[in-house]
Amino acid sequence: MSTPDFPSRLPQVGTTIFSVMSALAAQHGAVNLGQGFPDFACDPALIDAVTRAMQAGHNQYPPMTGVPALRQRVADKIQTLHQRSYCPDQEITITAGATQAILTAILACVQPGDEVIVLEPCYDSYVPGIELAGGRVVRVPLTPGSFRPDFEKIAAAITPRTRLLLANTPHNPSATIWTAEEMAQLQALLAPTNILLISDEVYEHMVFDGQQHQSAARFPGLAERAFIVSSFGKTFHVTGWKVGTVAAPARMTAEFRKIHQFNVFTVNTPMQHGLAEYLRQPAPYLELPAFYQAKRDLFRAGLQGSRLKLLPSQGSYFQCVDYSAVSDLPEQAFCEWLTRELGVAAIALSAFYGDGFDQQVVRFCFAKRDDTLHAALERLRRL
Ligand SMILES: Cc1ncc(COP(=O)(O)O)c(C=O)c1O
Repeated sequence: MSTPDFPSRLPQVGTTIFSVMSALAAQHGAVNLGQGFPDFACDPALIDAVTRAMQAGHNQYPPMTGVPALRQRVADKIQTLHQRSYCPDQEITITAGATQAILTAILACVQPGDEVIVLEPCYDSYVPGIELAGGRVVRVPLTPGSFRPDFEKIAAAITPRTRLLLANTPHNPSATIWTAEEMAQLQALLAPTNILLISDEVYEHMVFDGQQHQSAARFPGLAERAFIVSSFGKTFHVTGWKVGTVAAPARMTAEFRKIHQFNVFTVNTPMQHGLAEYLRQPAPYLELPAFYQAKRDLFRAGLQGSRLKLLPSQGSYFQCVDYSAVSDLPEQAFCEWLTRELGVAAIALSAFYGDGFDQQVVRFCFAKRDDTLHAALERLRRL
């Protein structure tokens, strides 16, 4: 008897570096500033709202597209924050986190042989999603050092086969945010093309120093071609709930839903009802920039005077540092050393590049309790 052949659909993919580093952190009792998730509880009012939904009997399949009240609240929020109207019935879909939203949007757009532009460094789910769709990944680097979009390079990468571009602001891992001018430049670049856009905005409410999140929803020429992806996990400190949203024009949403219905069909009911109730109050997301800015400032202040060079952190809950004054090790080896010897886990930026580009920069996540941050800082200051 022979075992059947089982060629991999994703031969290049191993265990994600986030899981690897979290396991290493646990093994060495290190403070885990690697994987991007909060170590503090969400608002008890949100738990109460979900509990009430379960007790009220909201435990069977919701509509395929998501609970209507939640879709309505999402549309209202986009209208208030970005002055763009999305029809909750035809243009908003509730997803199993941003990850499913991104994969489903890619599968909806990309035909075998289509080219898809990603701007590196980029979140690790983009490339495997494109490959599963049979697309060809076209990698365009953000400007080294500053991580700004380089529109000349993006323009040069566009061909008649280009179907889709993925953008992400606030950006993981670099913690940069796109300016209104950059969004307008992207709009102008895409205007004469048929290129669709996935705008990954999961850190939309973590923008610092009084800046404004430049959602694709604010730019008509982008919104008309964009799947705008968001994540309640990030916004409300519940990454394990895996609930997100996609806003897109009706004709794009219709195609998205054809795949969504056979991908997950729908998303857990009580969380959706709970989130819909919780979203009645804007304060929790409006207060988020100040909440995370305080953590960013605590973390940065703690590293002032150390030999780690702080890169700007304009948004998201990440802080990148250049460690070249401390060590000659490549990034991944440095992260492993830092975890084992110093007891702090970080993520190598090379993990976000297809070719493992190494610039001696690592990413810390500051979505942690202040005492966790102090414990990490106390160790990092020994460097
Ligand atoms: C840029 C980016 N996009 C998408 C996701 C996935 O979000 P979710 O947990 O809602 O699937 C993450 C999570 O880390 C992320 O950083």
